[in-house]
Amino acid sequence: MTDSGSGSGPGFGPGSGSVPASGPPAAWHRHVGRCVLLDGFHALKHALRFGAEVPVAVTSDRAGALALADELAPDVREALAGLLTEVPHATYASLVARPHPTAVAALAVRPSRAAGLEALARPPRSAPVVVLDQPRNLGNAGAVIRLAAGFGATGVVTTGTLDPWHPTVVRGGAGLHFATVVERLEVAELPPGPVFALDPEGEDIRGLKLPDEALLAFGSERSGLSRELRARADHLVALPMRPQVSSYNLATSVAMTLYHWSAGGGAPQMP
Ligand SMILES: C[S@@+](CC[C@H](N)C(=O)[O-])C[C@H]1O[C@@H](n2cnc3c(N)ncnc32)[C@H](O)[C@@H]1O
Repeated sequence: MTDSGSGSGPGFGPGSGSVPASGPPAAWHRHVGRCVLLDGFHALKHALRFGAEVPVAVTSDRAGALALADELAPDVREALAGLLTEVPHATYASLVARPHPTAVAALAVRPSRAAGLEALARPPRSAPVVVLDQPRNLGNAGAVIRLAAGFGATGVVTTGTLDPWHPTVVRGGAGLHFATVVERLEVAELPPGPVFALDPEGEDIRGLKLPDEALLAFGSERSGLSRELRARADHLVALPMRPQVSSYNLATSVAMTLYHWSAGGGAPQMP
């Protein structure tokens, strides 16, 4: 099912209607309006690593969460130990739409839009901005944000009605919204830079070097690139694909394109 998640915040949870007076659920309800949900241990781990402000974090299995930190994230173990409050499982489950296997949930303050826009436009960019033109699928958007974070892209911009901070997108992005810039803009407001728009009718990507200051634009799952985006494009670029295959999945296309950029010399150093 298509779910564009327009304008949604973390107003989740079967118990979100009754507000307790004190304790962790009270803190949760105090912060929920201005925060995004971090659903599960890994989302919280990533958000902390990349400097998110996390005013409240709960779990129904604190020992289990700290054991996971010992094993997978010793760098944020101390921060987690200071943040995580244990609550009964029913309390935890009342705060989230669907309990996560790690029984961890937290709220993080959404970064300022002004700072995000400034970072997107600040020259010279050392890595591309990924533009998703009217994406429809929340899972695709999350997967793209995770890719952008991994490749050290400057940011991800969406056009259209999908909210790139919708809880389902944040879940799909594994908390990596805090490792890059994520904003929604009109095509006319895109940051400066040459637009390389991905389209099966374009020029073969294998003959091109994608510059660090590029905007790499991808069309919607249903209808491809919009008229506005095509009008702003400097280059149409195709990914190799044998005849009779219509197109690749959106997130897969972003992965190939960022990999191609990185193979030309960009992207973070390997440890
Ligand atoms: C699922 S496809 C869109 C398919 C859509 N039905 C259409 O008419 O274009 C989503 C986006 O992925 C990118 N994409 C998919 N396959 C591609 C290819 N072979 N070359 C370049 N871009 C591709 C394009 O940006 C495309 O708009």
